[in-house]
Amino acid sequence: MDNSNKTYPRTGDSQTIYLKNVITNPNIQAGDFTMYNDFVNDPRDFQQNNVLYHYPINHDKLIIGKFCSIACGAKFIFNSANHTMSSLSTYPFPLFFEEWGLEKSRVTESWDNKGDIIIGNDVWIGYEAVILAGVKIGDGAIIGTRAVVTKDVPPYTIVGGVPAKPIRKRFNEETIRRLLELKWWDWPEQKISQKIKAIQSGQIDELMEG
Ligand SMILES: CC(C)(COP(=O)(O)OP(=O)(O)OC[C@H]1O[C@@H](n2cnc3c(N)ncnc32)[C@H](O)[C@@H]1OP(=O)(O)O)[C@@H](O)C(=O)NCCC(=O)NCCS
Repeated sequence: MDNSNKTYPRTGDSQTIYLKNVITNPNIQAGDFTMYNDFVNDPRDFQQNNVLYHYPINHDKLIIGKFCSIACGAKFIFNSANHTMSSLSTYPFPLFFEEWGLEKSRVTESWDNKGDIIIGNDVWIGYEAVILAGVKIGDGAIIGTRAVVTKDVPPYTIVGGVPAKPIRKRFNEETIRRLLELKWWDWPEQKISQKIKAIQSGQIDELMEG
């Protein structure tokens, strides 16, 4: 059984998609069941509307795990947005190579590279949150509405604000440790299906039984 190989998981709802099935860019990956909802634009245009300054020449990667929930208007801002700061000017001269007689092959010198964006599993990204280049978000984290995430977010941590700061952990350390060991999102779909009630219960002991 693989129910994640469809675009629209909800009958009659064309605003909610399983992201992995609309991605064509080899530098973007989304795991099984990760969903995106968009009530402003066509959610299938996620690559164009939500993954910004992500120029192929820079080869940056956006890797999103399984079972993430990505809310409308969440954005991923990549390296080509970062006008270089080691230069005495932030003006992107290398981008206008024809104008200034520079080498086309050095166009990437226009910007500073902070790295890929890596999102774990079961991450919930709130409405219009912005995730910046180089950020890694741990499994089970929550990104609050309109947060601007500039730094890595540890697993099962709720962050919010500009810049995003930890609000609290979702569970105690022991529960987080056990969840990270269990990695339920990697279980076969059938097992997850059997365990949904235990997941919903909020009781880690129930999830570990059987
Ligand atoms: C972060 C969130 C999950 C709430 O988490 P919570 O732990 O229950 O937070 P609380 O409401 O108890 O608030 C705790 C603190 O965080 C602050 N806070 C809550 N949401 C925040 C946000 N988005 N940005 C900044 N601060 C936020 C609260 O003001 C409060 O601050 P205080 O301690 O100084 O009083 C929720 O506010 C949120 O942003 N949800 C996303 C909703 C969304 O975008 N959904 C899209 C559709 S899927």
